[in-house]
Amino acid sequence: MPNPEQAPRAWVHTIGRQVGEEVTMHGWLYNKRSSGKVQFLQLRDGTGIVQCVVVKNEVTPEVFALCDSLQQESAISVTGEVRVDSRSPLGYELGARNVVLHHAADDYPISPKEHGVAFLMDHRHLWLRSSRQHAILRIRAGLARACRDFFDSRNFTLLDAPIFTPAACEGTTTLFETDYFGGKAFLSQSGQLYMEAGAMAFGKVYCFGPTFRAEKSKTRRHLTEFWMIEPEVAYFDLEADMDLAEEFVVEIAQRMRREFEPELTLIGRDLAVLDRVRKPLPRIRYDEAIELLRAKGCAVAWGDDFGGDEETLISQEFDRPVIIHRYPIHRKAFYMKQDPADARLALCMDMLASDGYGEIVGGGQREDNLAALERKIAAHGLPKEAFSWYFDLRRYGSVPHAGFGLGLERTLAWICGLHHVRETIPFPRLMDRLSP
Ligand code: 4AD
Ligand code: MG
Repeated sequence: MPNPEQAPRAWVHTIGRQVGEEVTMHGWLYNKRSSGKVQFLQLRDGTGIVQCVVVKNEVTPEVFALCDSLQQESAISVTGEVRVDSRSPLGYELGARNVVLHHAADDYPISPKEHGVAFLMDHRHLWLRSSRQHAILRIRAGLARACRDFFDSRNFTLLDAPIFTPAACEGTTTLFETDYFGGKAFLSQSGQLYMEAGAMAFGKVYCFGPTFRAEKSKTRRHLTEFWMIEPEVAYFDLEADMDLAEEFVVEIAQRMRREFEPELTLIGRDLAVLDRVRKPLPRIRYDEAIELLRAKGCAVAWGDDFGGDEETLISQEFDRPVIIHRYPIHRKAFYMKQDPADARLALCMDMLASDGYGEIVGGGQREDNLAALERKIAAHGLPKEAFSWYFDLRRYGSVPHAGFGLGLERTLAWICGLHHVRETIPFPRLMDRLSP
């Protein structure tokens, strides 16, 4: 920054190390109040907000007049001394000696008054600057880190799955189709099939990336583009898969609780919900879930899939996430293995978050027998040719294997206690939103 008055740069998050020093801070004006002879500027630098105290007889008249005229989100640099301020939440303030204006913002559209969600979503590129959105997205970054650390520390190999795919993984009704040099490609619904190849090559792998679903549902749980973390392990059965999912969710929830208490408090999360996320997580069979729903007066038939309402009713029975396993196989994706103990069931599981947040994990054991898999592909009306490479995994050293997918945004909505997933991703893609 060209500024002759400039001192060494400070950032809000580390300002406590520079008490008594003269520093320059760069940022934007978050808020301002004045008591005539003193102006209090809230400077936001992306890592936090610091109060800058501008006293009339401690700066030039031009600087004081500038501060008087500054509007919200103007870009400024403030030079001054870092002081301890026990009254502020940060614990420090800046005694300003000089203020430099880089860009004057006029009539910033997002004011502290209430705005409707549609308005805020249309201004998502600016809304990101608000304290609440900032906190949520910092937690998101921390959650992604915690997810990676969990698997990296257990020697899983990160194996990136492709985004352009030749075939459906999670059913043909939610595929986004795109032109691929005159042919057809689909945006990936899940990296799972590629992780199965990876598990046979590396033993334990995971992918973590964006996935796409052309879901024609406008619910608070559905995005058309969301991030999923998908581990897959060779020589793994459904029980081991549930153990892994349990350990994973408990560890990431506890770590978020520990590392992001200030952010979670700022957004109003009841931390007791996260404190309760401890092993063991309850596990019930689909059949038991049906009984539970009927006991609550819900008219479900055996074989029905659970929607948001059913999931909420079930999760209300537990104080922590619950795993439901062995769903009817006819409801499930082609790759699921049949339960040898009951041909009607699949060796699969879903984890429902507590508090009515719905399914955050889906997974299970995969069909490892070639003939059975070929029958399933045909029964689901899927093109056999597109899966020829996948059949090879059952031809050359096929073994029991299992894995799951955890949706980052739904998990974040639950951890943060947010009503809708649209606030859990920087630029949400919904059925009716592709902008900004
Ligand atoms: O249950 P799903 O469809 O499972 C799979 O895709 C498996 N192939 C994963 C695997 O076994 N490797 O999706 C997994 C998770 C869900 O539990 C949910 O958290 C999230 O992905 N999810 C969505 N999140 C936001 N919006 C949507 N439309 C979502 N669909 C699924
Ligand atoms: Mg699912």
